[in-house]
Amino acid sequence: MATLIKSGMIITASETYTADVLVEGEKIAAIAAHIPEMDGMQVIDAAGKLVMPGGVDVHTHFELPMFGTVSSDDHYTGHKAAAFGGTTTTIDFISQDFDHLPDCVAAWHKKANDKAAIDYGFHMNISRFNPEIAGEIPDLRKEGITSLKVFTAYNNRLRLDDGGIFKVMRIARDNGMLVMAHAENGDVIDVLIEEALAAGHTTPEWHALTRPAWGEVEASFRVIMLAAQAEAPVYIVHMNAKGEAENLRRARAQGLPVMGETCPQYMFFTIKHLRQPDGAKWICSPPMRSEEDNDGIWKAVEDGTIQVMATDHCPFFFDGMRAITYEGQPIAIPGKELGRDDFTKIPNGLPGVGDRLMILWTTGVGSGRISPNRFVEMTSTNPAKIFGMYPQKGTLLPGSDADIAIWDPKKEIQYGVATAQHRTDYNLYEGWKLRGVVEKVLLRGKLIVDGSTWLGKRGEGRFIKRSGVTVL
Ligand code: URP
Ligand code: ZN
Ligand code: ZN
Repeated sequence: MATLIKSGMIITASETYTADVLVEGEKIAAIAAHIPEMDGMQVIDAAGKLVMPGGVDVHTHFELPMFGTVSSDDHYTGHKAAAFGGTTTTIDFISQDFDHLPDCVAAWHKKANDKAAIDYGFHMNISRFNPEIAGEIPDLRKEGITSLKVFTAYNNRLRLDDGGIFKVMRIARDNGMLVMAHAENGDVIDVLIEEALAAGHTTPEWHALTRPAWGEVEASFRVIMLAAQAEAPVYIVHMNAKGEAENLRRARAQGLPVMGETCPQYMFFTIKHLRQPDGAKWICSPPMRSEEDNDGIWKAVEDGTIQVMATDHCPFFFDGMRAITYEGQPIAIPGKELGRDDFTKIPNGLPGVGDRLMILWTTGVGSGRISPNRFVEMTSTNPAKIFGMYPQKGTLLPGSDADIAIWDPKKEIQYGVATAQHRTDYNLYEGWKLRGVVEKVLLRGKLIVDGSTWLGKRGEGRFIKRSGVTVL
């Protein structure tokens, strides 16, 4: 069936104009000032509405095992929450849980395949490296996986040494792949945690105090320099320190192929939130920092230093002993309470996949800090380009997938756990007043969100085989 979206304000990364959008099957067939209505077409009146490409969130962790529990959104519930927030594509990280990478990939497909409700891709974590793994990395391309995450922290768990990171970068360079780096100083963190626990410091703020911003400034600089020596591009994930953004700005000015991502939580929250009685809600790695760091990240968002706004969506219940009702059923999943007496046992991660677009629209576009086009660029077009999905995803063009979010720019809501659709018991933006709300969402031409009605289905999301990456 064809769908005609009439008279909406189209916003892409480069243009804003009023037009009709014709969707035929799964694709955008035409965009023009006036497209005649034909018999049998589904017509959506978008006069007074904004029509944007569906969001692309390239940093999620669905159903991720951690500290004896699991992140509370899986590939269905997380996709549904994403869709209600205007996002139609996510990329999730595969854990290196088996000796061989194909087994790791197969395990992640098994988790996602029957649940996926929006389109999705995978990045591969490289957290153990040896000659055999080196030989298997290039074959990930055949699986449609072109990006690899490495860690300079989480010693004895996920971290690679500098030599390993350097080798992974060279393999990525030679095979048209992109290394993504989690940049904190794992050794310093371990020393500080040991000292903090020995001194009896167990509260959530110590999570931040044992992971100093300087470690992130140092590690991001190190990662950039490793990439320079490997003559490879690098993408730094979840950037949250002012000095880290300054590293990125300087490296890009020097012409190095370095890119960066931040997430909304790092623009609003600080260590002060960890000091609240419910501080565990804000525990993630890297941690919340200072107002100066928030400002430094905002500046990097405004001036184009940072290319991508993702979420690092990795939710846990605040009180996993108390059930919530999800799709009519009670559910409780152990969460932040696991670390009630020890901050090192609090599962790391936050909800956000459904919040990202509406929070950034109100705080970024609504305040005049970024333009609507920059909003689309950071949340949809750039991530699709960098991770090899453009122009199938990330824009509104004839031939692109008809992944479309229709927004009511005038609608105001009070946001929070009751409006967000994450499968958890809290929301970081509880009580925030938002202006500009996602109203309808199409995934490859099919209406999956209509106001508060969910029309999507488990298993309807499609794995996106990516063929390359692009350095912006
Ligand atoms: O706290 C976080 N971010 N958990 C997810 C893992 C990661 O490092 O991105
Ligand atoms: Zn990370
Ligand atoms: Zn992450």
